[in-house]
Amino acid sequence: MLDANERLQAYYQELRQHHLGPLWNSIGRLMTEEPTPRAQAYLWRWQDVYRYVMESGDLVTPDRGGERRVVFFMNPGFESLEPWGWGALTNTLYAGIQLLKPGEKAPSHRHNQNAIRFIIQGSGAATIVEGERVVMEPGDFLITPAGLWHDHVHSGSEPMLWLDSLDVPMLYQLGVMFFERYPQFNQPVTKPDSYTTKRYTASGLRPLQDRRSSYAPQAVFKWQRTRNALDQLSLLEPDPYDGFAVEYINPVTGAAAGITIGAMMQKLPPGHHTLAHRHVHSTIYHVFRGQGNSVINGIRFSWRQGDTFVVPNWAWHEHAASGGEDAYLFSTNDQPVMEKLGLEREEPYPAGQQTVEGEFSG
Ligand SMILES: [Fe+2]
Ligand SMILES: [Fe+2]
Repeated sequence: MLDANERLQAYYQELRQHHLGPLWNSIGRLMTEEPTPRAQAYLWRWQDVYRYVMESGDLVTPDRGGERRVVFFMNPGFESLEPWGWGALTNTLYAGIQLLKPGEKAPSHRHNQNAIRFIIQGSGAATIVEGERVVMEPGDFLITPAGLWHDHVHSGSEPMLWLDSLDVPMLYQLGVMFFERYPQFNQPVTKPDSYTTKRYTASGLRPLQDRRSSYAPQAVFKWQRTRNALDQLSLLEPDPYDGFAVEYINPVTGAAAGITIGAMMQKLPPGHHTLAHRHVHSTIYHVFRGQGNSVINGIRFSWRQGDTFVVPNWAWHEHAASGGEDAYLFSTNDQPVMEKLGLEREEPYPAGQQTVEGEFSG
């Protein structure tokens, strides 16, 4: 005769065999009191990433099949799920560093994932998006909205490196991926150079045709203009949590330029130290210029130019610049998704700034 506990254990086993589950002992894991993302706070040093990206340049070419030469960031929190962690840096966002060498081309394709790019170094390469050739220079921000043909070409003389960020993990979890290859290796250029940039030379002014519809009215946000905007902004008061910061938006709708992917550039003058807060959305940071540190849930992550780090959902974080020059942090986030789903929430850290309990050592 089985006692009550043995009977319950046998019952659980039978449920499992029939692919059924008991909510009463799963609810604490399924419905946590606060977000418990699989993503962990982590930082990748540029010297490591750069070394492996450049080595990939000797090992593989961006041909059909592999499509792109990218080394992507794998958040340690997802590594146990699949051999390459299904490309998740946060629960919704992917990011990687792409290398295109002089004379190379990467084939044209389209997919239902949204993509944004932030240019790190090099010159002479361009992304072709739906017939527009978009020249890429360090500090530029580019968008490739879902469903548009895009490929990369390089006619310069030095390696071109940029950061890609896509909503791959989100679509992966939703089970809704589509991917299509263009019939030829590259698509033809059908629009004048700097087409969308010429159409949007001044903020607050919209070409009349875009009143009806425009999915990607501005393909590139040039660094010089972003920098000028930040210089003007930094004569005024900073945002308490992000210093002097601007978002890349669709000039027609005011929504995130990257559709599901929010993106911004923030400037932290030397010695500037923000207050701490946390929010439901997650963020990937790439240090474009300068050095400093970010405290994430009490752990200090020191960073310098080229480093990439991640602030998971609902993690306390604050930023500080050190050294003698302005720090510029580029970042992408999933705030547009959280807002569209009515999930976004934000809290200031009660004491203003956190007490540092440890140093991130990797
Ligand atoms: Fe792509
Ligand atoms: Fe934040």
